[in-house]
Amino acid sequence: MTVDKLKKQLITVIEEVARVLSRSKHAVVFTGAGISAESGIPTFRGSGGLWAKYNAEEVASVDGFMKNPKAFWEFIKELVKNKSKPNSAHYAIAELEKLGIVRTVITQNIDMLHQRAGSEEVIELHGSMSTIKCLECGKTYDWKEIEPKLTDCPPVCECGSTYLKPAVVFFGEPLPEDAMARAVKHASSCDTFMVVGSSLVVYPAAYLPFVAKKSGATLIILNAEPTHADEYFDYVLHGKAGDILPRIAEAVSRFLTRA
Ligand code: APR
Repeated sequence: MTVDKLKKQLITVIEEVARVLSRSKHAVVFTGAGISAESGIPTFRGSGGLWAKYNAEEVASVDGFMKNPKAFWEFIKELVKNKSKPNSAHYAIAELEKLGIVRTVITQNIDMLHQRAGSEEVIELHGSMSTIKCLECGKTYDWKEIEPKLTDCPPVCECGSTYLKPAVVFFGEPLPEDAMARAVKHASSCDTFMVVGSSLVVYPAAYLPFVAKKSGATLIILNAEPTHADEYFDYVLHGKAGDILPRIAEAVSRFLTRA
């Protein structure tokens, strides 16, 4: 297929997806690392992915953290670089929330960029870096208190301990029960479920699109590259979230104005 034809096809799908969203009474957006890629945060899989550079078991499991908290903090610094800001994809989702289309964002990300872009209803399935707890004395810190300490990795608690653990889900840990319950509730009752920037390979989060499909929702996926689950989706867009999502949000706003 020629590039022109592909471009025309993408424009058509963007318009169709925008029409679906503009008619939605309860849309849910489910995001993964890909939505933060254009904010300078590396993804986990695919070219340049973090799991090609770090051993997940060593840096992101409970055992690995207890053996070597420094390895975890070196890894996490790449995910929560202080210079990272929300990109146009995060802002487009916040805009769709303001338009009354998106009811909630379910994210696998821990970078808090959705909230910084103005999204109010955010379910963080894998937790976030917002609070950090000392496993020895129990003192908790805000991310803002820890960020400056990251120059000398690992950060050290006032009690002298280096076991400062953020409220993120490590491999081997269960997902926050409340977050998963709310996510399943939204996935089971939404009429439109849009995945943005996820390879959909980590469960139980990756079950959610199928929960939505089983409940009769229209499924949309926007990802830079094909995923194993594309065939289950009603609409498939391959491209950059920072490019395509603002165009979808603009078209939704246009459809709503005409309605
Ligand atoms: N726009 C849209 N999609 C993108 C972009 C972009 N600019 N850049 C990359 N992508 C896509 C990649 O093609 C990839 O399929 O985003 C996807 C990111 O997939 P992963 O790196 O596997 O991230 P994610 O799906 O969020 O991983 C889930 O795995 O390691 C655990 O806890 C970690 O939350 C993470 C979970």
